[in-house]
Amino acid sequence: MNKRILVTGHLPEVNMAELEKLFLVDANTEDKPFERQRLLHAIEDKDGLVSMITDNVDEEVLDRASRLKMIAHFGVGYNNIDIKAATTHGIMVTNTPGVLTDATAELAFALILAVSRRVVECDKATREGRFQYWAPMLFLGREVTGKTLGIIGLGEIGKAVARRAKGFKMRVLYHNRRRIASSEEKELMAEYADLQKLLAESDLVSLHIPLTSETRHFIGKEEFSLMKPTAYLINTSRGPVVDEQSLLEALLNRTISGAGLDVYENEPALTPGLAELSNVVLLPHIGSGTFETRIKMASMAVENLIAGLSNKIPPNLVNREVLPHRRLTE
Ligand code: 8YV
Repeated sequence: MNKRILVTGHLPEVNMAELEKLFLVDANTEDKPFERQRLLHAIEDKDGLVSMITDNVDEEVLDRASRLKMIAHFGVGYNNIDIKAATTHGIMVTNTPGVLTDATAELAFALILAVSRRVVECDKATREGRFQYWAPMLFLGREVTGKTLGIIGLGEIGKAVARRAKGFKMRVLYHNRRRIASSEEKELMAEYADLQKLLAESDLVSLHIPLTSETRHFIGKEEFSLMKPTAYLINTSRGPVVDEQSLLEALLNRTISGAGLDVYENEPALTPGLAELSNVVLLPHIGSGTFETRIKMASMAVENLIAGLSNKIPPNLVNREVLPHRRLTE
């Protein structure tokens, strides 16, 4: 194939080697986001794009992409791509579902344990020489075992979190657009709850919803006011589903006890004041960040790209409505 592709992130070598065998590759070789101006310029002669969450693939980019047939997004969430505009332009878009489920659920649990048992705060104190003697009331946290976990968004990742909660003998409440089958509720030991009940009864609330126009600021001032003062918020989904200013206020006023965050409203910027709080654990969007998972994500994106650029329907197409209008490669 003499197709030209753009890869905007620094992917594992094994995946890059595969792409280079098949395509003329223009790739970001640095571990930082591809600049907007470079993207606008580089996309002009490309047939395929492997995009990252840090690329804003909007109308302006798509208007310039007159040859583009296929966007293989590296990630499950694709809120950074204007899907409607891509469809109008006849461009197929794919994502990488499934392969990052366990890694992301693991990280949600890492945050659950870290905030509840004050792991990061205690690490800092120990390094700074503040562990000078043992005492019965030193750095007490809250036990996770047996507590109520509220999962908002029971998709694949939410379910994987529920499965892990069983090991901690937790009661699991979930809120989702659709209630799942009762056999699955039984298997997951998860009980459906409306949002108010979930917020009022959970000791930990973990978010697993995609970012859409309906879920922006899904959790804000009103929702925090319904939570227990001893509760923690965990977010490994997308930052803008939480109104970060209201979160900051809820943490300062002790409306809730703490938060474990992997994502931010204006990533990578943090709402001023957030980083000064000791009752938050802040991570740099590493939900899927394991060697194993990033290779699987890249392999999936590569597979999707190859299929799309061979005029086949890629396995993880997210805009099926494009099919009658898709641009085919000559
Ligand atoms: C990725 C993610 O790190 O899959 C997602 O939706 O947020 C993460 O797994 C990111 O999308 C990389 O582009």
